[in-house]
Amino acid sequence: MTTENSAMTDVCVLGLGYIGLPTAAILATSGFHVTGVDTSPAIVETVNGGGIHIEEPGLKTVVRAAIQSGHLRAAAAPLAADVFIIAVPTPLTGEKRADMSFVMQATESIAPLLRPGNLVILESTSPPGTCADLIRPRLEQGGLRVGEDLFLAHCPERVLPGRILTELIANDRVIGGIDPASAEKARAVYGRFVEGKIFLTDATTAETVKIIENTFRDVNIALANETALLCERLGIDFWEVMRFANRHPRVNLHNAGPGVGGHCISVDPWFMVERFPEDTPLIALARTRNDTMPHHVAARIMQELGHARGPVAALGLAYKGNVDDLRESPAVEVVRLLRENGLDVRAHDPLARRAPFATVPLDDALRGADCAVILTAHDAYRELDPARAARLMRRPLVYDTHNMINRDAWRAAGFEVITLGRG
Ligand SMILES: NC(=O)c1ccc[n+]([C@@H]2O[C@H](COP(=O)([O-])OP(=O)(O)OC[C@H]3O[C@@H](n4cnc5c(N)ncnc54)[C@H](O)[C@@H]3O)[C@@H](O)[C@H]2O)c1
Repeated sequence: MTTENSAMTDVCVLGLGYIGLPTAAILATSGFHVTGVDTSPAIVETVNGGGIHIEEPGLKTVVRAAIQSGHLRAAAAPLAADVFIIAVPTPLTGEKRADMSFVMQATESIAPLLRPGNLVILESTSPPGTCADLIRPRLEQGGLRVGEDLFLAHCPERVLPGRILTELIANDRVIGGIDPASAEKARAVYGRFVEGKIFLTDATTAETVKIIENTFRDVNIALANETALLCERLGIDFWEVMRFANRHPRVNLHNAGPGVGGHCISVDPWFMVERFPEDTPLIALARTRNDTMPHHVAARIMQELGHARGPVAALGLAYKGNVDDLRESPAVEVVRLLRENGLDVRAHDPLARRAPFATVPLDDALRGADCAVILTAHDAYRELDPARAARLMRRPLVYDTHNMINRDAWRAAGFEVITLGRG
């Protein structure tokens, strides 16, 4: 039986997605006995078979090894454990508020299993105050007291999709305990595999750190996007402005692009706006600026096509290059806007799964098209042969929303090249 003083050996990870599955697998290969829980029966079956349901370099090998060693198993419901890690989604509602229903369902599911000495860790990105005001009261309904019988901490994730396994181990971590003992207890778990520095603080500070990290990125990208639009108006080149401005020792102008997507940067800033609407004009405005970018891209395509309005090859649907994740993707939004305006859009993505509409092979997307728009910075598009594209397309027009292709090579193949941010 687990007691307050016994070592923590059994971990239950709730949610086997982009964060939970790599975390569960690494914990398992670090000596813990891990039960990975997911409400999707298909995911449970895939993981128990040693497979994975997401695209992430190296993950399959680690999951297979963890399953084969017997240290990881997936299940549909949580089991008693020493440590519970909640890594379920925290998406936005239609009203741009944090949807905490998954976190609360996960908390509900572990509440009957809690025993003295248990540690509950919230990994899901959550509005400031979630551990203290939402999770703590629910955990205490069974009579155990957080801070006396139970430990509770927030340990936000800051991994980069595509490098999750590396960054899970190498990144510095911030752990916020509901009290110092909870933070220390959580440090003992992460200390088993994290090679970066671990910083301890309180739970609300850790929640705020995570939100502000992503808000910092969003606000800076909004500034880059706004500058790119200004450069188009001025008839100059944003990418040159960026290059020269960044020669200043204290300036780091970010890349402009067709918008901001993904489960984090385009979502988390709203968690602060929701809580303090009067005090977040800058954060809200940056979000809005980034959300207008797909409209700008779609309008530019329609302007270039004029009345001809031939087929458009949409290259890329994922929210960023070399990942399969389509959540909140501005590329999907561009396709939606073009279709809404009656255009025939053929979408291609080499990695995307579960696209909200049918995708076609690359050649089929390009064949007969009047415009190819590169919406996602996948390496596959950087390497695309312009001569091949020219042979397939009806009109040799390419719109590069990431400034990623070799303009000279495309021009030499007969293309008219438009670049976002270049006037
Ligand atoms: N993906 C990232 O790069 C990233 C980075 C940092 C932080 N985060 C945060 O981590 C959290 C998880 O994100 P993700 O990308 O892993 O999400 P995801 O959608 O990939 O995975 C979440 C999984 O949780 C499962 N689930 C939902 N409710 C459940 C429940 N009650 N019990 C058990 N399983 C349940 C879902 O079926 C899904 O498989 C979010 O709060 C996100 O903001 C994500």
